[in-house]
Amino acid sequence: MMIVVEEKKSTYRDYAAPQRSDAVDTVREFYRLNHQNQTHDFVLKKKAEYLGFNRTTMTPWAALDFLNTLVDDSDPDTALPQIDHLLQTAEAMRANNEPDWMVLTGFIHDIGKVLCLFGEPQWAVVGDTFPTGCAYSSKNVYSEFFALNPDSQRPELQTPLGVYSEKCGLEAVHMSWGHDEYLYHMLKPYLPMPALYMIRFHSFYAWHRENEYQHLCNAQDDEMKPWVQRFNPYDLYSKNPNRPKLADVKPYYEDLLAKYLPAELKF
Ligand SMILES: [Fe+2]
Ligand SMILES: [Fe+2]
Repeated sequence: MMIVVEEKKSTYRDYAAPQRSDAVDTVREFYRLNHQNQTHDFVLKKKAEYLGFNRTTMTPWAALDFLNTLVDDSDPDTALPQIDHLLQTAEAMRANNEPDWMVLTGFIHDIGKVLCLFGEPQWAVVGDTFPTGCAYSSKNVYSEFFALNPDSQRPELQTPLGVYSEKCGLEAVHMSWGHDEYLYHMLKPYLPMPALYMIRFHSFYAWHRENEYQHLCNAQDDEMKPWVQRFNPYDLYSKNPNRPKLADVKPYYEDLLAKYLPAELKF
């Protein structure tokens, strides 16, 4: 059974006519800050700061509880709490009989947004991501704001390859910092490669939708891209005002979490 995820596609991610009534100014201001501040050096600093995972430990449920208090400023489509978005994403996958590791991925793909709990501003947590350390594609959303980024004044970072080598693979690329990269490193030991690509690159629209940055990609990236593209409609088009009841489905997700992840995750 194909369910509603395909419905009304064209009306999502329309930044000029968003689904959220409060969104135009909020989202635009979000990307001004994001593109201005996400320099290559900023990304390296955040990786050094967070990828030791020595802050705290939490169960996945505790992380989800926290996320319930967050509304994502970069999202033009929904102002519902994050848990509703995660449940809608996962439940749409489940209804389509996607593999269970993919349903789990849908359920947890945004829990890296707990970075907000550690005091990070939203521009360093959410929104579309892009490679730093090389020229910006004009197909990134609100790409005009890259002119405000200090890296745009560093000619060595503005060639197509920048600090990278031809076909080095996205593994070697320092993406703008946020929940995607953070959660990828946290879950690397536990999930199959397509799940890890979905988590790490789900916000890299310039790559999975616009096919930009191919000169940085290797054969593995090309092989994994269809999985990221398969994930994307669930992330986008399962957004609707109907709030699934967690209590009804909690036992299913408890089993799924226990199958793949340890009881406590390191943050
Ligand atoms: Fe996300
Ligand atoms: Fe999401």
